[in-house]
Amino acid sequence: MPDEKALRQLNAALNLDALWIPFTANRQFKSAPRLLVSAKDMHYQTHDGRKVLDGIAGLWAVNAGHCRAPIVEAIKRQAETLDYATGFQLHHPAAFQAAEKLVAITPAGMNRVFFTNSGSEAVDTALKIALAYHRVRGEGTRRILIGRERGYHGVGFGGISVGGMVGNRKTFGNMLGSVDHMRHTHDLARNAYSRGLPEHGAELADDLERLVQLHDASNIAAVIVEPVAGSTGVLLPPKGYLQRLRSICDKHGILLIFDEVITGFGRTGKAFAAQTFGVTPDLMTCAKALTNAAVPMGGVVVKQGIYDTFMEKGGPEAAIEFYHGYTYSGHPLAAAAACASLDLFKQEKLFERVAELAPYWEDAAHSLKGLPHVIDIRTLGLIVGIELQPMADKPGVRAFEAFLRAYQKNVLIRTTGDTIAMSPPFIIEKGQIDQLFDTVREVLKTLP
Ligand SMILES: Cc1ncc(COP(=O)(O)O)c(C=O)c1O
Repeated sequence: MPDEKALRQLNAALNLDALWIPFTANRQFKSAPRLLVSAKDMHYQTHDGRKVLDGIAGLWAVNAGHCRAPIVEAIKRQAETLDYATGFQLHHPAAFQAAEKLVAITPAGMNRVFFTNSGSEAVDTALKIALAYHRVRGEGTRRILIGRERGYHGVGFGGISVGGMVGNRKTFGNMLGSVDHMRHTHDLARNAYSRGLPEHGAELADDLERLVQLHDASNIAAVIVEPVAGSTGVLLPPKGYLQRLRSICDKHGILLIFDEVITGFGRTGKAFAAQTFGVTPDLMTCAKALTNAAVPMGGVVVKQGIYDTFMEKGGPEAAIEFYHGYTYSGHPLAAAAACASLDLFKQEKLFERVAELAPYWEDAAHSLKGLPHVIDIRTLGLIVGIELQPMADKPGVRAFEAFLRAYQKNVLIRTTGDTIAMSPPFIIEKGQIDQLFDTVREVLKTLP
């Protein structure tokens, strides 16, 4: 960690003007900056010399904790050996190794992977694979992509089109044309304070049947959902909902895509939420913890039959079967970080650790029931959403204030709308779980 003198020098030298910061209130930030300058295991160090407990694993991503030595070493080794190789018509060993390690933990039958550099790219790639797949197998009329209200699928035009966030529609207009949406599943009236999955709402999957009646199945390519919606407030699927969605997709030949960008790599207690819920999609996106967030990387994992169809119908052997890819798909540094991360998850049995800690986490979370402003608490694995009553005419302001106050108390939480979301690294200790929830408790008592 940098010493005080180094921090003073850094602060004095830093000009904040040139950078436009993503998903941030830039003016507020620049008037009172929050800079993270180093990290180790469960903690960040801030520019003003404080040690902050990371309650959100960076951003649902640093699942093994920060700056873990095996991952750092793997990246260093790879940078010295092969910094970059194009993935187009050439490739390099680490990408194949990363793919093999990844498909070793995905649901049975999902064993082919296309690498991207982010979750947003993984989503757009999955949507393109779905469209192209139907076309190569002779059902090119299947063009419509179905998302869900309150879905978040990153920031590409494909992702915001199938996503269900009103802010995107307000700002960016109609986006992709052939898109429709199912209803969301959030139902406070029936499901508030559920322990485990909500009892009510499996029937909302039938909304897909309504869309089939409207568009006809022969025009629908795929349905994309987050098994657990994160960025729109930690929304858990009602019991039986995903199973029902799976069977409606099967009935109509519609591909089911799970966006596992936040749920992947142990967050729900198994490698993927698909395994936690016992529902296997046809395609699955992932990113974030794939490399423990040390180097940007995402991926789309598909059932072997989808890959095989592209190969069988791909024309002459020298023809490119799927016209898609990124300069940095399977980048050597990312691939090396993925291999080291996947090894570390396994060696330290970190996914099992999530399942073990989950009951303690759930009890700690529900101990906040009854505190001011709290209207629901939702947990699964090492995830929690604490929904607050919004301030009149000021949506999001109360929760943002909670974030600022917790940060001052050396705990990093995250807020989406008026929901506090936490998702710590899996190496968290029970005492640190107490610290997280005790801090949130203190903050809730002081909120306007
Ligand atoms: C479900 C889901 N999909 C996609 C994304 C986008 O990932 P990225 O920010 O890496 O583009 C996110 C990001 O949080 C996400 O939660």
